[in-house]
Amino acid sequence: MLKGKDIVSISDLSEREMQRIFSVARDMIPIAEGKEKSELLRGSILATLFFEPSTRTRLSFESAMHRLGGSVIGFSNPASTSLSKGETLADTIRTVNSYSDVIVVRHPLEGAARLAAEFAENPVINAGDGAGQHPTQTLLDIFTMLQEFGHVDGLKISLIGDLRYGRTVHSLAVALSYLGADVHLISPRTLKMPKHVIREMHHEPEIHERIDDVLRDSDVFYVTRIQKERFPDPAEYAKVANSYTITRKMTEEMKKEAIIMHPLPRVTEIEPEVDYTPRARYFKQAFYGVPVRMAILALVLGAIE
Ligand code: NCD
Repeated sequence: MLKGKDIVSISDLSEREMQRIFSVARDMIPIAEGKEKSELLRGSILATLFFEPSTRTRLSFESAMHRLGGSVIGFSNPASTSLSKGETLADTIRTVNSYSDVIVVRHPLEGAARLAAEFAENPVINAGDGAGQHPTQTLLDIFTMLQEFGHVDGLKISLIGDLRYGRTVHSLAVALSYLGADVHLISPRTLKMPKHVIREMHHEPEIHERIDDVLRDSDVFYVTRIQKERFPDPAEYAKVANSYTITRKMTEEMKKEAIIMHPLPRVTEIEPEVDYTPRARYFKQAFYGVPVRMAILALVLGAIE
């Protein structure tokens, strides 16, 4: 169903394709945990090209590939490649395409992954393009909600923080609206969700500036980091740097079944004490990156239909 497919934007996937990824990911959990062994992708090579910092996205893709018996090549420091000699992204991609079977790319510029997909014959997966999209993060975010609640339709999901520059929330808001969730957006006025993202959503989201508006009745609090590196002016960043912090005290006001998610890295948006409350799910969520990315790799490589 997904063989040979590029995943650049979350809208590249139909609801049926997303459901297929989730169902394969569920079967992958014991392999992701190291409890079962697999050679499903033996002989296949994944290239990870990271032009921006990453911990979870790159390492979970690499772990996923290794756990399925495949191999990995790539770089996480573009200064060590011929890009520093002035080679274009297009030439780099054409070359890497001939050394591998699937390419995962993260780049600071919006649109870079789409460009890469045009120059590569093999599937290209966007691991974050500037303030654009981060579709595989969205898949693992929704997978986490499904594991917790069994469904996302009807859940009240509050996306909190930097909705302007945060790419994870751009992909997530659109996907959640397709799946029938009740999406609420909480941000400072200067960091609102871009209009083009809202236009892509199936339902009008509700917009707030205060967490207090959603604190008592949200099922999911999806907290994001203020994306310091995307601000053109450091003074503008300083104004909003500590806009929101989820405290342990706040967790006591939340619904009993509510969960707190975060794509990580976290800076000051969630107090460390929250980690020890039954609301915290962000480390579990980070683990789910492995089975979900196993499913994505196995499906785009055609090892599973
Ligand atoms: C996010 C990203 O890179 O967009 N991290 C991730 O992939 N888990 C979120 C962030 O950097 O704030």
